Amino acid sequence: MTAPPIVEVEDLKVHFPVQTSFLAREKPVVHALNGVSLAIERGDAFCLVGESGCGKTTLGRTIMGLTRPTAGDIRFEGATISRLSDGEMRPYRRRMQMIFQNPYASLNPRLTIQRTLEEPLRFHRPELNESEVKAHTRDVMVSVGNDPEWGSRYPHEFSGGQRQRISIARALMVDPDFIVADEPVSALDVSVQAQVLNLLMQVREARGLTYLFITHDLSVVEHFGTQVAVMYLGTVCELTTPKALFAKPLHPYSQLLLSAVPKLGRKSFKPVKVPGEVPSPIDLPTGCVFHGRCPHANQRCREEVPALNTVKARQVACHGVDEGRI
Ligand SMILES: Nc1ncnc2c1ncn2[C@@H]1O[C@H](COP(=O)(O)OP(=O)(O)O)[C@@H](O)[C@H]1O
Ligand code: SF4
Ligand SMILES: [Mg+2]
Repeated sequence: MTAPPIVEVEDLKVHFPVQTSFLAREKPVVHALNGVSLAIERGDAFCLVGESGCGKTTLGRTIMGLTRPTAGDIRFEGATISRLSDGEMRPYRRRMQMIFQNPYASLNPRLTIQRTLEEPLRFHRPELNESEVKAHTRDVMVSVGNDPEWGSRYPHEFSGGQRQRISIARALMVDPDFIVADEPVSALDVSVQAQVLNLLMQVREARGLTYLFITHDLSVVEHFGTQVAVMYLGTVCELTTPKALFAKPLHPYSQLLLSAVPKLGRKSFKPVKVPGEVPSPIDLPTGCVFHGRCPHANQRCREEVPALNTVKARQVACHGVDEGRI
């Protein structure tokens, strides 16, 4: 029997209530995720791309158990984790860690670096004694290229790149198997982005980690991704290898996204922009959510939601591709 994927997401929906007058009869919701399905295999650097607001962070947070799904399932090594109590979730919380976009906000300014790193270890490994905790902290600091002497200092004493190295060390303290990295370098100076990305890839190799890597930077996908899912308005449009996507994007949105980056992979860390307006996730379009911007849209596209089907060794959600007209 083959092992199940490390993480599987099935028909995941996340809708956030919108604040309205309590007298309002209709209770509108933000449709952040509208039936996302994907599987992340052990060892993957699985990239999520798509414009701001398409639901990448919500997907990462929901997998981590930080946001409750409205519907659908999340499985970790085959076990459903999307409906667990806090206590039942605890062993999974050790095995899944998250690195956030903003290293200025994600470290507690009142804790020394030593305390910041020790905290998750003390919580998840209470059996360790004082000297074991200290030794482990030192080892992890060294493994990510941090000076162990930093331990007695506070986050404000460090630059963005150094703080992100500390955040990475914190995530590694509990020996996780799976890491969600949510735009981990986009808040950093361009000059240090590559160093932090390289560190992430190096620790993945050394520790056999699996990543869900959220980015709007396609050059990162090209260099580091093993799989890539293109998202638009809370749905996955296309899921394949970076090589296949860059060679020939099939979904019209992927085509538009790639055409918007003329110098792919050439040190450009610019956000992706596509012509046209993204519709509101509160009033979702009927049928294919991309139909208003798609040059290939027809009547069926306006009425029927396309399923994510396997086409030419990749998954694509598009009627035009299914019908062979794209
Ligand atoms: N806690 C929340 N409450 C209400 N709406 C939210 C919340 N979090 C995210 N959203 C909305 O959900 C959509 C997806 O957001 P997000 O997952 O942050 O996208 P991305 O990370 O791709 O930029 C956006 O429309 C955003 O405004
Ligand atoms: S389903 Fe139709 S509207 Fe949507 S991307 Fe495909 S062709 Fe365009
Ligand atoms: Mg985000």
